[in-house]
Amino acid sequence: MKGITIRTLQEAKRESRRFCCVTAYDASFARVAAQAGIETILVGDSLGMVLQGHTSTLPVTVEEMAYHTRCVASAAAPALVIGDMPFMSYATPEQALRNAATLMQAGAQVVKLEGGEWLAETVRLLAERGIPVCAHLGLTPQSVNSFGGFVVQGRDPAAARRIAEDSRALAEAGAALLVLECVPRALAAEITASVRVPVIGIGAGAATDAQVLVMHDMLGMNPRPPRFVQNFLSEGRDIAGAFAAYAAAVRDGSFPRPEHGFD
Ligand code: KIV
Repeated sequence: MKGITIRTLQEAKRESRRFCCVTAYDASFARVAAQAGIETILVGDSLGMVLQGHTSTLPVTVEEMAYHTRCVASAAAPALVIGDMPFMSYATPEQALRNAATLMQAGAQVVKLEGGEWLAETVRLLAERGIPVCAHLGLTPQSVNSFGGFVVQGRDPAAARRIAEDSRALAEAGAALLVLECVPRALAAEITASVRVPVIGIGAGAATDAQVLVMHDMLGMNPRPPRFVQNFLSEGRDIAGAFAAYAAAVRDGSFPRPEHGFD
């Protein structure tokens, strides 16, 4: 099967074909997810919570991200591998370039950064040097301390306008993909319609071009799953079956349902 690239995903958006993404942190799960037809695998810094047991993603280091990216990249074909840049690894454009290069050399094909318009210069710098960027907006978990918890973002008109303007600024700066996390459905729909780059949602309703879930959540391993999660391992499926059911539900629009989103 041909490898998935950012062009494949951009083409999917143009043709209104939804695609999906799941996190993975090792070769075995990456292989099963890719063979089940999941187009993109995110080596998320969520590994700080689901693998390392921390209460946030802040303790994760570039070295740890590079290690897990290498593990995933060894087995993820034909899926596209997105490597997450951890907390404070892109505080300046120069630092971002150095650390993004480390993740790309570990096997990432895209790097993900959390933030708004302030990241535009960094996105431009990386894109110009051959490093595709996925910009993550809305509930950006590395800012949990500034938000005062893992809370829905963009509910008041001013905050919604800021997220929409940030999304457009980062798309214009050259971001290849956007992630919108925990924002009202209507806001995610408006942003998805207004940018040419594919938008991947999580807790952002059904109108985005794609969905992402943390693997441990969609396999029913989170004792307190967020409202936007569905357990795809239930109903007697095995892990490959759970990934395939998730991919099918995203593509046919049966996941996420209205109760998974926010107003
Ligand atoms: O680290 C991660 O798993 C993420 C997803 C929740 C989008 O950033």
